[in-house]
Amino acid sequence: GLPEYIKIVEVGPRDGLQNEKVIVPTDIKIELINQLSKTGLPAIEVTSFVSSKWVPQMADHKEVMRGIERHPGVQYPVLTPNLQGFHSAIAAGATEVSVFGAASESFSKMNINCSIEESIERFEEVTKSARSMNIPVRGYVSCALGCPYEGNVVPDKVAEVSKRLYSMGCYEISLGDTIGVGTPGSMKKMLEAVMKEIPLSALAVHCHDTYGQALANILTAMQMGVSVVDSSVAGLGGCPYAKGATGNVATEDVIYMLNGLGINTGVNLCAVMEAGNFICTALNKKTNSKVAQASFST
Ligand code: HMG
Ligand code: MG
Repeated sequence: GLPEYIKIVEVGPRDGLQNEKVIVPTDIKIELINQLSKTGLPAIEVTSFVSSKWVPQMADHKEVMRGIERHPGVQYPVLTPNLQGFHSAIAAGATEVSVFGAASESFSKMNINCSIEESIERFEEVTKSARSMNIPVRGYVSCALGCPYEGNVVPDKVAEVSKRLYSMGCYEISLGDTIGVGTPGSMKKMLEAVMKEIPLSALAVHCHDTYGQALANILTAMQMGVSVVDSSVAGLGGCPYAKGATGNVATEDVIYMLNGLGINTGVNLCAVMEAGNFICTALNKKTNSKVAQASFST
């Protein structure tokens, strides 16, 4: 059967906003995170400690990290590609970090400017430092269901990279369908391969909705026992190094589906919709959440 509880990891302030062309004012980012903190979400990805030359939108990482109100019981992870990012994140007050690798060589090169092997070495430095400071590390594997440069990605490669991240101490592996090309069929095959290497309780899925398959893919993963789902308020997002990748699956749409299934998330759908409305108004954008579209038009 399906899991009784699904943990939702909100990635909108990071994965969502990183793709916005116009720089979003820091106080808007902070207000968005503060609103999301009051919705019952257990984890909110705040920002990235990456190069501001590569991703200018995340250049205010320090100010955002320092500016937010942290609620007890909510995790506030940030992306850290290397030791430099890790040290900056910790100096800014981060208490959880994420390393982000890929199952595709070309994507690794385009996204973090190094091979998969080199990235593993960098991540080992991060996990080693993190361990000595008791900082939990999450690990992403991008291109788990396809690559914008290489096309198909074999499930065994996803399993191999996932295993290496898990072995170095990442407590959870988030499998990213970076460009949203996956289907329930490819999701099932990929998860079967990864589940041979990693305990189910340490897996998360991170679906983009480019091809409209995200909810179906998430339901498939849940049927296989995955109980952690990444999503983005208002379906904001994309990836600057994956052309054509649209937003992550909308948090509102995931919660609506889970509510309908009677699965507990602890998240208040109305409160998330209000946060979505806030950020869409600030960005002068229409929401990508079908649920929010339907609710606000009636
Ligand atoms: P690099 O140029 O290869 O790094 O960048 P380097 O070590 O050669 O250093 C060059 C310069 O970058 C130096 O500065 C360093 O100080 C600086 P300079 O001397 O030229 O002034 N630098 C840094 N600055 C700030 N923070 C750092 C840092 N490291 C070096 N951590 C690097 C390598 C990884 C930094 C670069 O490629 C980068 O920032 N890439 C951005 C990656 C990114 O943010 N991508 C989007 C997020 S991933 C994603 O969206 C996928 C995901 O959602 C899952 C999914 O959907 O699949 C997670
Ligand atoms: Mg993503």
